[in-house]
Order: sequence, then C-alpha cells, then structure tokens
Amino acid sequence: MPFVTHLECANCQSEYPAGEVHGLCTKCSRPLWVRYDLGLIKKEFPKKALFGRPPTLWRYLELLPLENPANIVSLTETITPILPVTRLGAEFGLDNLLIKDESRLPTGSFKARGMAMAVTMAKELGLKRLAAPTAGNAGGALAAYAARAGMESWVFMPEDTPIINQKECLLHGANVYAVNGLIDDCGKLVREGMSEMGWFDVSTLKEPYRIEGKKTMGLELAEQFEWELPDWILYPTGGGTGLIGMWKAFDELEALGWLKNSKRPKMVSCQSDGCAPIVKAFESGARHAKRVDNATTIASGLRVPQAVGDFMILEAVRESGGVAMSSPERDISRWMGLANSKEGLAVCPETAVCLGVLDQLMGQGKVKPKDRVLIFNTGAAQKYPESVKADLPRIDLSQPVDWHALLSA
Ligand SMILES: Cc1ncc(COP(=O)(O)O)c(C=O)c1O
Ligand SMILES: [Zn+2]
Repeated sequence: MPFVTHLECANCQSEYPAGEVHGLCTKCSRPLWVRYDLGLIKKEFPKKALFGRPPTLWRYLELLPLENPANIVSLTETITPILPVTRLGAEFGLDNLLIKDESRLPTGSFKARGMAMAVTMAKELGLKRLAAPTAGNAGGALAAYAARAGMESWVFMPEDTPIINQKECLLHGANVYAVNGLIDDCGKLVREGMSEMGWFDVSTLKEPYRIEGKKTMGLELAEQFEWELPDWILYPTGGGTGLIGMWKAFDELEALGWLKNSKRPKMVSCQSDGCAPIVKAFESGARHAKRVDNATTIASGLRVPQAVGDFMILEAVRESGGVAMSSPERDISRWMGLANSKEGLAVCPETAVCLGVLDQLMGQGKVKPKDRVLIFNTGAAQKYPESVKADLPRIDLSQPVDWHALLSA
C-alpha cells in the first residue's frame, strides 16, 4: 500500500482513508475506487521492473492495494494465455480474433482474480468471516480462497445455480445455501444477516478490492500485447467488475505512460436477451439500469437483474466508444458448441454470448475484418454440465458394430 493514497466514491467522490475496512460509500451507497499515487509509482516503478517477476497477477504489486506481501492469499493466479482462434475467427470473417482464456485460473474462472484480492485484503484488515451472494463462480472462488486463508465463508446462491458451483462450495468447506430467488435476493440476505452473523460482505463491488483483482486482466493483456491495446474487447457482463476494472487499468497505465499510444479498445458489454439491463440502459441513454424481472439465461453468471455498479459499466462503455448489446438466449448453445468444437477451448456459456454479439457487430459493419478483437473466456465449459446435451448414440456389445452406419451417420 505504499502507493495507495485513499479510496474514493465512484458516484459522489467522497474520500475514505486506506487501511480501514470499507464497504459501499456511506453517503450514497455506491462503490469505492482505490486510488494510487500514480506520479510516485511512475518514478519508482519503471516498466522494466516487471522483467523476471513470477508470471502471476501479483507481478503488478505496486498497482495493487495490499500493504504487506506476506498477506497474499494465493492459489497461483497464473497469467492467462491469449490464443489466436483463426478457425473460429473465419466463421465471422475476422482475421484477428483472440481469446484470453481465464478458465486456466484456480477454480476454473476469472472470479479467482477478484476473490484472491478480496480475501488477501480481508486477511490484511483482520477479517475472518466472509459472506457473498453468487451466480455461481464467485461463490466457488470465495470458498476456495477462504479455505486457503483458513477463514470462514458463507455463500448464498439461487437454487438453480449450476450443480458444479454448488458442489465446489461444499467441497471447499463453505456454509452454502440454495435460495429460491435471484442473486439480488441472495444479496439482501447477506445484508440482512450482517449484524447478527458478524460477517463481512464481499459482494461484487460492495467491497473495494475485487475490482482491483479484476483490474489485472487489463494490466496483463496490455503487457501481453506489448502495451498496444486491441481494437475491441468483448466482455460477458453480469455485475460488470471485469469491464470496469479493465477500464481503470487502462487509465492507470496511461497515467504511468506505459501504453504505446493513447488508442483505447472499444469496450463491448455483452448480455443475453434473457437478462439485459445494461443493454436497455445503454440504448435509452440512461445513467442507471432498471431491474429486470424474471431474468432467465443458461449463462448463469450473467443472470444479474440489477448491478450496483451499473453506471460505472455504462460510463466505461460510452467513454470507450463501445456498445452494450444482447444476443438471443436461444442461440447460446449453438455459439458454445461452435467455439468449443472449432478450437478445442472450453468456452463457457457466458462467453458464447459474446460470439452472438460479435456476429451482430460484424453484420452491422461496426467490426471490420482486420480489426483485432479480444474476447474473454471467463470460465471453463466443464463447470456447466447442464448447458450441454449429451444423448450419445449407444453401442450394444451384444451386436456386431455396423461401421458403415457410423461413417454415414
Ligand atoms: C463465467 C462468468 N462470466 C461472466 C460473469 C460476469 O462477470 P461480472 O459480474 O464481472 O460482470 C460471471 C459472473 O458470475 C461468470 O461466472
Ligand atoms: Zn458516494
């Protein structure tokens, strides 16, 4: 933390001291940014200091909120690879389609970044019991990192959350509950139980540090692209922490003078039309999004009917010249099948939504064939058995196999 100066409300700009426990802004109940002395970092942390540091998100230590590296709670958050996906790109008429594969992170999703940081900061601040509502993957990550830190975790999830998310929480020793409601109903339970249960609420954006963990996606990709950012970033948006975090990363890198030019990517917030509050607000020009009733999508991480950081997502998208766009729910399985079969990458349903959006952006001529387009694969397909139909043709060992029939099937 030598470089953290203070925390600042993203809405009313109220300031809070670093080194203390904070949730939302106490004046307006909106999220807090962690602010750094970027001038000092620029002097003391030259880009070349990165050489030789371990290939994990902790290599950007000076741009992270912790004071003492001994508090790091880690399962080795590896730098995730960016893979050219030419065969998949050709399906869209794109020469430069790339996927940053976050499924390689501990617990199989990008939620590891945020939770590694939140649990590290909880340790630094002396917190011992953490609670969160979850669409699935954040709960698994919280349970894993809390276990790693020897802390207690309490997780509340909609009862139809993918079964793997339910089981991973149990395996990691969380106190996990299935709720007959949506993620914001689970969020209310965490709030309600706070004083009696004595837990700290690590909901998306309701504490200031998950976003700093997600910010490392932007730092990492900038370094991987040798400090020249791609033309487009497509991000599957629920609570939006990743998109907001990346935009903050680009701001900080620009202030440090690390980017080769000031050309920023157009940020695309992708949602399913089964739950698209950000898209509706973007289209109507609103600052905040209205809650979506009856939110339904198999892309469970995107089933967020209302996001506390809605205005932060919308600001980043608008500032970047990007767009918020939805893809039809009925097409998600098809896009998921295409990505998984064309490239061998385990692309999750949330990321499949980005392909539906990419298809529309190409159709509208917004994305050009030579543009460099980066899509985040935010989780591993293996975590979603419910979203893949597997009615395998049977082979009966009591009968001879008709190989000819197999070939012509
Ligand atoms: C695999 C996956 N992708 C995307 C999201 C949405 O992330 P965010 O809430 O940062 O917008 C989630 C959230 O649960 C997720 O699990
Ligand atoms: Zn405020």
